[in-house]
Amino acid sequence: MAARGVGLLNRLPLCTRRSPILRPIHRLLSCPGTAAADARRERQSSGSTETGSEERTPKKRFSEVQKERREQAQRTILILCPNKTSEKKFLKYLSQHGPINNHFFFESFGLYAVVEFCQKESVASLQNLTRTPSMGTEAAIPFRSRFFNLKLKNSSDQTSEQPCMPRCNQSPPSSKKLFELLCDAESIDDQLNTLLKEFQLTEENTKLRYLTCSLIEDIAAAYFPGCAVRPFGSSVNSFGKLGCDLDMFLALDEIGNFNAHKTSGNFLMEFQVKNVSSERIATQKILSVIGECLDNFGPGCVGVQKILNARCPLVRFSHQASGFQCDLTTNNRIALKSSELLYIYGTLDSRVRAMVFSIRCWARAHSLTSSIPGAWITNFSLTMMVIFFLQRRSPPILPTLDYLKTLADAEDKCIIEGHNCTFISDLNRIEPSKNTEPLELLLKEFFEFFGNFAFNKNSINIRQGREQNKPESSPLHIQNPFETSLNISKNVSQSQLQKFVDLARESAWILHQEEKDHPSPSSNQPWGLAALLLPSVAKSTSHGKKKRKKPASERIKNLLESIKNPENSTNINGKRTVTTQA
Ligand code: GTP
Ligand code: MG
Repeated sequence: MAARGVGLLNRLPLCTRRSPILRPIHRLLSCPGTAAADARRERQSSGSTETGSEERTPKKRFSEVQKERREQAQRTILILCPNKTSEKKFLKYLSQHGPINNHFFFESFGLYAVVEFCQKESVASLQNLTRTPSMGTEAAIPFRSRFFNLKLKNSSDQTSEQPCMPRCNQSPPSSKKLFELLCDAESIDDQLNTLLKEFQLTEENTKLRYLTCSLIEDIAAAYFPGCAVRPFGSSVNSFGKLGCDLDMFLALDEIGNFNAHKTSGNFLMEFQVKNVSSERIATQKILSVIGECLDNFGPGCVGVQKILNARCPLVRFSHQASGFQCDLTTNNRIALKSSELLYIYGTLDSRVRAMVFSIRCWARAHSLTSSIPGAWITNFSLTMMVIFFLQRRSPPILPTLDYLKTLADAEDKCIIEGHNCTFISDLNRIEPSKNTEPLELLLKEFFEFFGNFAFNKNSINIRQGREQNKPESSPLHIQNPFETSLNISKNVSQSQLQKFVDLARESAWILHQEEKDHPSPSSNQPWGLAALLLPSVAKSTSHGKKKRKKPASERIKNLLESIKNPENSTNINGKRTVTTQA
């Protein structure tokens, strides 16, 4: 369930920074016309975070967004089209079944169209006129879904019209492109907002994610009528980047529970069910049959793996048409609650997402995170660290979870498996922060904060928004916000944590150096965030010579201290010349 990420930015040509006169940063915060403002506008128009404008428009609750998107996905279909398809004729043809609200094309293994009808009945009408293909020598397993093939009756008919319809991009920018964009930005704030704008999920990609869940739900419903397949994790928590995996869970606990309390009279009806000896076995059995079903009959589902002995059993597969790597679990209500909490944090203040995206990108560029599970920090843990850091600012940029709990009303009350998951769901009742610190400062302070954090004795805790004594000896302890006895970063090894600390110190040092050196406009060096994404010198000098690593980190720490306290200033003779601006 981890992200595949940005490639490293090594071997890229250096590019020139823009005039440094534009760089000093305070002017950026509220200037219309800056990339920061553009990013905000763009986000609002794309709807990718589903919120209103930061200050004025009411922001939607997570549950409202989920409900709207789910309903939208149920009226939507996916079609594999021939390349020559004429958009106009295609839309005209489909409109026979009812008005179309929205559509777009994208390229995956072929040309696909996503078409959203205004009414659900249009889908049924189209399905009634759709045939099962005859396969010649192979045999087709008939399966009636909302994933179609479009065939041309007469291909010469179609070519006469506009040859190329616009295709929506579903991938993040290449490392080279990103690097150019960052070097072209006007300030570090601008760089962070640019990175966010380029990597965040687009409106179309978000639609495709909900549609994919909805298509999987149709398949699961063959076994469990009334079930729901719900997305969670970064696809919905406002921190998703183009290319991230699609985490979904099969919700079976909703079946038959909604109206049961409405029955009157002396009796209560229950479904006859089969019992098994534990919840875990029930989960494994359910996922096992769904995995078989996806493998045998699921259109577009390939590479199905049943990973049933994991701590959290899951079925992993690729949805070939959308290009998503999917992880399907069951009844994962706490994870959905985590997603809602992150959505609230990501939506409260525009700096949160900019920080999280940049820190995740930085971590990926330095191989601190990986798509393979192991002793690495996960994106989820990094997000918690950013939230914690923002709670520690003065005044705080983000409220603590305990505070969000005090704002909750009766309908927000939520206990899952004995864990109190209560917090306010109406974002509009949370006071915006009075803190106006620019992103540049926050980025530098983030690296300083964690470069000097007492990981050996303290735990990170977003519930209380302050350090706690570590309850156990794992190198990194980040308290699970709801299952509070659990550590979400238990997997992280001492050496991985040390690597994180070294890189954080080095990055803080680079930013300090840039601030100090007042680089010349003709400087041909990568700067700001772009410089932070380059391979680390500490790493390359220590490569193969482990003993050097610690002194490099210590040296950077001392340098940072001397910068903060000029009276003790030593000669700052930075060795990481690739990133200094002088
Ligand atoms: P990406 O790397 O972009 O996929 O981020 P993600 O937040 O989706 O992470 P991932 O796919 O690894 O996990 C999906 C969701 O599962 C997270 O958002 C969390 O809600 C939850 N999750 C992941 N790891 C942990 C963990 O260690 N403990 C707990 N309690 N939940 C986790
Ligand atoms: Mg994920």
